[in-house]
Amino acid sequence: MSKEIINTSDGSATISSPYDGESYHSKNGALTESLHIFIENGLNRYIGNIFEEGKHQTNKSITLNILEMGFGTGLNSVATFARSQELENININYHSVEKYPLTKEEHLGLKHSLLFPSIDQSCICKIYESQWNSIIEISNRFKLVKIKGDIEDINSYKPYLFGNNSIDIVFFDAFSPGSQPHLWSSEVFGALYSIMSDHSLLVTYSAKGTVKKALRESGFQVERRAGPPGKRHILAAIKGTGVTF
Ligand SMILES: C[S@@+](CC[C@H](N)C(=O)[O-])C[C@H]1O[C@@H](n2cnc3c(N)ncnc32)[C@H](O)[C@@H]1O
Repeated sequence: MSKEIINTSDGSATISSPYDGESYHSKNGALTESLHIFIENGLNRYIGNIFEEGKHQTNKSITLNILEMGFGTGLNSVATFARSQELENININYHSVEKYPLTKEEHLGLKHSLLFPSIDQSCICKIYESQWNSIIEISNRFKLVKIKGDIEDINSYKPYLFGNNSIDIVFFDAFSPGSQPHLWSSEVFGALYSIMSDHSLLVTYSAKGTVKKALRESGFQVERRAGPPGKRHILAAIKGTGVTF
């Protein structure tokens, strides 16, 4: 099945997948969805928690390790990079696993770089065009490793991760549980849990009962949060007791 570019309600484009014509983002707004789920409920909540609870001296820099399931169009990666440029004292190591990379033409056709006019466009190009399975410095505060492979083999990619059991935030962005049920399983969530740090967070767009069950079976505490336009709920899954994000 061929891929097609689609305009979504907030003016940002997405692409239809070869799986049942499913789109890579919500048709109610690709950028809005990415910012709401992964930036607001993932990165911002995580950072807010660290600083609010006085766990960290604000004048010292910290490094966050993020792992994304599904690099796709790169929209979440670019949105995270854009947010990182506004944050002081935070370094981000961004890992993204992708089994079926898009072509350069497909990335260019989406025109996602135009959604971030204030960001250095050469950095955005670097995010799309950087080599797979290499550590690339996008800026002095943002390092990227795109891992070409299957999320089910995450344990074999440990050499590409920054440190052991160090992932602080997972952006779980597979195609839907209906299309890819094997990826929304306690096997995959358990493997992710095992490489996450003691107090860490996984966010995802699906709030289906089977997803909550698989996350709980893997050891996470699961919370429902308000979703972006067109979606009532999303999920936040927390590793660690007595932790809130
Ligand atoms: C919903 S899209 C992700 C959208 C992406 N996060 C973005 O910002 O554009 C799902 C992605 O998962 C990828 N994918 C599907 N099965 C996979 C697997 N087993 N392992 C790794 N990536 C996979 C797809 O190729 C697709 O790029």
